This record gives sequence, C-alpha cells and structure tokens, in this order.
Amino acid sequence: MSAQKGLNLTLKVWRQKNDKDKGQMETYQVADISTDSSFLEMMDILNEQLIAEGKEPVAFDHDCREGICGSCSMYINGEAHGPGREITTCQLHMREFKDGDTIYIEPWRAKAFPVIKDLVVDRSAFDRVMAAGGFISVNTSGNTQDANAIPIEKADADKAFDAATCIGCGACVASCKNASAMLFVSAKVSQFALLPQGQVEAKERVQNMVKVMDEEGFGNCSNTGACEVECPKGISLENIARMNREYLSASVTSDK
Ligand code: SF4
Ligand code: FES
Repeated sequence: MSAQKGLNLTLKVWRQKNDKDKGQMETYQVADISTDSSFLEMMDILNEQLIAEGKEPVAFDHDCREGICGSCSMYINGEAHGPGREITTCQLHMREFKDGDTIYIEPWRAKAFPVIKDLVVDRSAFDRVMAAGGFISVNTSGNTQDANAIPIEKADADKAFDAATCIGCGACVASCKNASAMLFVSAKVSQFALLPQGQVEAKERVQNMVKVMDEEGFGNCSNTGACEVECPKGISLENIARMNREYLSASVTSDK
C-alpha cells in the first residue's frame, strides 16, 4: 500500500501587528501536510517554517486543543471554526481540505472583539457580561440544602445542561451579520433560568447581562440563525426566545 501524499496548500492569513495596525492578508505555502493533522497542528507547522525563515510567527489563541476552552477563534474560508458542524477550530482536521486548496484564515471580526494581534481578538467583553449576572448566590451558613436533593424535571435539567455547554468561543458573534451576542448571553441566562437555584436573582440577572451586552457594542438579533449553524456546541435559538421571555417578564414585574 502506498503512503498517502500530504497536502500542498496556499494559506492567506490575516497579519496585524497590533490593535492600531491596519492589517493585511499575507500569502504562505505549506507542503506535505498530513490529512491526520489538526488545523492547529498545520498552523504550528507554518509557524515553525516562519521561525526558521527568521520571520514573525502567526499569533493565534489556543489552550485545550480538545473543544473545551473556546479560545481557538479562527474564521476559516468564511466560516467561524471552518467547515464541519459542531466542532471548534482545534477539532477541525486537514482531511476536510484537498491538495492544492487555498485557505483563508482570519480573526473574528466584530466591534466588541477588537483584534489584538494577527488572529487573536480581545473577548473580554464576554467576561464583563458574565460578571454582570452569570452566577448564583448560595448561602453557605451550614444549613445549605444539597443541590442534588432538589427535584428538577428531567426535561429542564437536560435543557439547562445543553445551555451550560456553551464554551464562550464567540463564533456566534463572528457569524452574525449584526455581531450579536444573543446566543451566548441567552445560553448563560438559560442555564440558570431553568433551575430552581437560578430563580433568586433571575430578574436582575437577565436585565444586567442584557444591559452590559448592549453597552459592549454587540448588535441586535434579527433571527438570521447563522449563530446556531456555526456554534460548535449546537446551542439552540430556543435559548434566545427564552431570554426574551425572561427579559420581558423581568421588565414588567421588576421594582427597578
Ligand atoms: S453560543 Fe456557541 S458559538 Fe456562541 S459562545 Fe457559546 S459555544 Fe460559542
Ligand atoms: S483550543 Fe480549546 S476549544 Fe479549541
């Protein structure tokens, strides 16, 4: 059996020195890339090549490389996290590409996610949305009821869990023509809204998180649905509908 030939690829990569630099696409060639390589391993090979040539390697975010941390934010051939459904960039493999392909690699593009360098964007706006309400307060006086002792409908527990699988990657924002963060924020609201533990601060939570989301410069939702298609965790648009209901209910019943 003959050994499978590696891929020879042309890469068009966004290079930007810092947040002030205008940035531009640069063209690179990589040769003999194994189809078993992950996309980030291919980027590592490119960087080793650039370093050997005395050039600056491409800056990109990554940490877990197994679809958990949400940091590998790359826009590949016009899609957040590239081709393939319900995977992150680090879970994308080179077998999705053909020999001779040209691959366009860009950072997330959204006003609320400014580019720091090359493919690295500042996603701290998500942290500020989380700090505004992505938590519950628990009385730790010693009389606290064990969470597992509180009965929860299986359907609600499953939906809360599904919402909680959001990894905060920002692909929903990058895919949306309005750069809306509604899928992310609604997942974070829903994971608590469906559970009894989330009820105490429910009204403030949805109001505060939506307020910070708007202040951070994310756009409005116009029900295009691109976010759901590109989300690596399959977060459903149903969460946006739930957040809108929570928000409306909080607005008409809140003392604020
Ligand atoms: S909703 Fe999906 S696309 Fe958006 S941040 Fe969460 S995991 Fe990423
Ligand atoms: S590097 Fe952690 S999700 Fe891709």
